[in-house]
Amino acid sequence: MEEKSLIEEAKKARKRAYTPYSKFMVGAALLAKDGTVYHGCNIENSAYSPSNCAERTAFFKAISEGKKDFDKIAIVGALEGVEEKDWEFCFPCGVCRQVMLEFCKPDEFEILLWNGRGEMKKYTLEELLPCGFSM
Ligand code: THU
Repeated sequence: MEEKSLIEEAKKARKRAYTPYSKFMVGAALLAKDGTVYHGCNIENSAYSPSNCAERTAFFKAISEGKKDFDKIAIVGALEGVEEKDWEFCFPCGVCRQVMLEFCKPDEFEILLWNGRGEMKKYTLEELLPCGFSM
């Protein structure tokens, strides 16, 4: 799948974000090696800590469906109501990076970010999580 198409899938996922507290809507599209795309959005909770990030939603959906091998993830995020042209790059949080490391090769797995003005940033997991912990 083309990178731009995966970004479009992340934008679709973002529309389903449940964010009554922060109003910050994130969407992720995780591409498995077999071509399946798993969507994820952030899901907040009134007790705050049970909230889940978009990236982890996508990973947990995929893992729970038996998928284990992944190529890349696209992520978009912006406050509700902000026009797409004003979206900034949304980097995955540290917890989500650690979850990615559990399932992906750090020097191969790619993280695509999109800022709403046609610019894309691309990183390997290793670049965003150097010296990550694993057993
Ligand atoms: N959020 C994500 O979904 N992914 C990240 O990597 C960073 C933060 C969500 C969590 C919360 O619902 C909102 O963005 C504001 O922190």
